Amino acid sequence: MIWPLNSKPKYEPLLRDQAQAPSAGGLDLSLRLRRNRKAEWSRKLVRENALSPADLVWPIFLNEGENLREPVPSLPGVERLSIDEAVRAAAEAATLGIPAIALFPNTAPALRDEKGSEALNPENLVCRALRAIKRETPQIGLITDVALDPYTSHGHDGLLRGEEILNDETVFVLVQQALNQARAGADVIAPSDMMDGRVGAIRAGLDAHHFQAVQILSYAAKYASAFYGPFRDAIGTNAILIGDKRTYQMDPANTNEALREVAQDIEEGADMVMVKPGLPYLDVIYRVKDHFGLPTFAYQVSGEYAMIMAAANNGWIDGDKAMLESLLAFKRAGADAIFTYFAPRAAKKLKEIG
Ligand code: PBG
Repeated sequence: MIWPLNSKPKYEPLLRDQAQAPSAGGLDLSLRLRRNRKAEWSRKLVRENALSPADLVWPIFLNEGENLREPVPSLPGVERLSIDEAVRAAAEAATLGIPAIALFPNTAPALRDEKGSEALNPENLVCRALRAIKRETPQIGLITDVALDPYTSHGHDGLLRGEEILNDETVFVLVQQALNQARAGADVIAPSDMMDGRVGAIRAGLDAHHFQAVQILSYAAKYASAFYGPFRDAIGTNAILIGDKRTYQMDPANTNEALREVAQDIEEGADMVMVKPGLPYLDVIYRVKDHFGLPTFAYQVSGEYAMIMAAANNGWIDGDKAMLESLLAFKRAGADAIFTYFAPRAAKKLKEIG
């Protein structure tokens, strides 16, 4: 849609005898886009996009223990929660109108091994948290990450042989991991590993075990990003990660490839797709939503949150305003929902300002 910028009003003759609008240096100021912005009531009426708590997903870090909230220094305001605290957080999310939470475990170092075996343990941190939260707050959506990085001794999302991340062998394990989570009550399985073929394999596995209603949210366009640093601190993989993830996560230089990744995952049965990171990749979100039209999620990742918090804590920007502006940007780009560590704070602020 293109508006003619210099079109003269057709009723110009009628205006000829009337007082001319004030003009600056002979400029034709009959077109005044500021008119609609003159008061808050008017700005509200013409507003094109809106953010609501219902757009948010709250990522929560889990830790062993009881009554424990452990701060993550590189994520000011974010804590690792013991399961009982996570149960309370889920209830808070429901009260705030946040539809879903996403669970990420900080696995004890002793439980990590080459193969990420703990991912398949029905009593692992995530599975116990799923059952406990389902019992207390059944109305909240529970999203679980499928990838091996919280469980491997090398910090990679897949199985490692030499320097190679094995694709098909990893997919086989990811299906078992997804089933383990579904059995514990996960509503949405979110593979974030970027192996090829995992969405189709997980779908087939879920269906074969009567989990037809379990959704798949595929991290379809996930980039090899420097913005994941604080997340890796939170789940304890930063110090142990060998090398980087560039043989499976995407090159930040590419967007057409993101569309191929999304097309592949839709073909394999993804119900929703994710673009990640968020703000530096708004163009990718826009193209994915525009091209495919299916539910498109964005992840405002840990480094993005940390940047805003760092500036706000230094008094360099207004934290609340920057938070809401950054989240609204995702809506403008076409995102249907946003994973953000700001979720509870943003939901509270949105309620407050109405
Ligand atoms: C793990 C995973 C990562 C994130 C979500 N799931 C990190 C990674 O791929 O290394 C990042 C989230 C964030 O930075 O907030 N597969």
